[in-house]
Amino acid sequence: MVLDGLRKFVAPELIFGVGALAMTARYVRNLGAHRAFVVSDPGVIGAGWTQKVADNLEEAGIPVTMFSDVSPNPRADQVMSGASIYRDSECDIIIAVGGGSPMDCAKAIGIVSTNERHVLSFEGVDCVDGPGPPLICIPTTAGTSADVSQFAIISDPSQRRKVAIISKTVVPDVALIDPMTTTTMDPHLTACTGVDGLAHAIEAFVSRASSPLTDLQALEAIRLIRTYLPKVLSNNDDIEARTQVMLGSLEAGLAFSNASLGAVHAMAHSLGGTLDLPHGECNSLLLDSVMAFNQQVSEERFARIAVGLGLDVRGLSTREQCQAAIDDVRALRKQAGITGTLRDRGVGAGEIPGLAEMALLDPCLVTNPRRAVRQDLETVFEEAL
Ligand SMILES: [Fe+2]
Repeated sequence: MVLDGLRKFVAPELIFGVGALAMTARYVRNLGAHRAFVVSDPGVIGAGWTQKVADNLEEAGIPVTMFSDVSPNPRADQVMSGASIYRDSECDIIIAVGGGSPMDCAKAIGIVSTNERHVLSFEGVDCVDGPGPPLICIPTTAGTSADVSQFAIISDPSQRRKVAIISKTVVPDVALIDPMTTTTMDPHLTACTGVDGLAHAIEAFVSRASSPLTDLQALEAIRLIRTYLPKVLSNNDDIEARTQVMLGSLEAGLAFSNASLGAVHAMAHSLGGTLDLPHGECNSLLLDSVMAFNQQVSEERFARIAVGLGLDVRGLSTREQCQAAIDDVRALRKQAGITGTLRDRGVGAGEIPGLAEMALLDPCLVTNPRRAVRQDLETVFEEAL
């Protein structure tokens, strides 16, 4: 985030590596807590990871209250009922197990329970008064990075929109990042969350709030995800490649949490809120079109992204390097099996003005490198149609 020439870098305490999940009870004790409120979703419960966390806690004598009414694109009403159950449970710590949806829901439950306000009132940058209870995040996808970020995205179905809450108070206290948890993702989820991670890194690198600290993380994330995501997609059980993709996702998360994002995410939030489409898929379908829109103001940066992607750029002009980066991202999306267009997902031309209007209001657009007016966003949506 920017304050004149100053930059700050916020991150939780991180444990990264196979076996990190088994540290849950120890960190509950380290944080001085005694009763755990575990937020998860039916898919992750079905995969068995939530029970592994619950077993780890109960073996250490820590009682668990489970909350799993979390949909993809978690809704404001789910957050409010979760906060009510949390308050009645006498728990003193929240543990999120899952992808972006349970983690964002858990963050929101925390701030609602201590600030006693409706979750939608926290929309925007730095609009949360005080932190929630201690929060441990255990991600089970490699891409969303909600486990390290100062973002929580909540859907408001009554307005068919997504609300971005951006605040240091939603940075977890601890992230336990265990690559084993990603082995139960299906190939499409692996692809979508991986490309979402790449979008985080690219948007953070060209963000108007980027800094040398976030650049370092973003470029390494681009290299790791581009190198190892295809390996994971060709062999689901390649745990070394999964570890590298998760490390890339972590670095992308640290970068975007501190440099913010851009038009890809502003537009993806608009799409996800209006049509309830999966976040990673929305980003994947928009990423190369937004890069093409931004390239004229960030040529030198996109040329460095081309190098990060591992492309041979010898002899190419800066403009050609930019184009090579865009082409490579498009090729990766196709290789990952994320094909088709927005129209195939049910988006009609008549919805584009409304989608553009909503994206204009998203705080992620503030840091997009090229100023975008409504017509620009409509054009990019039309290209992705
Ligand atoms: Fe994202």
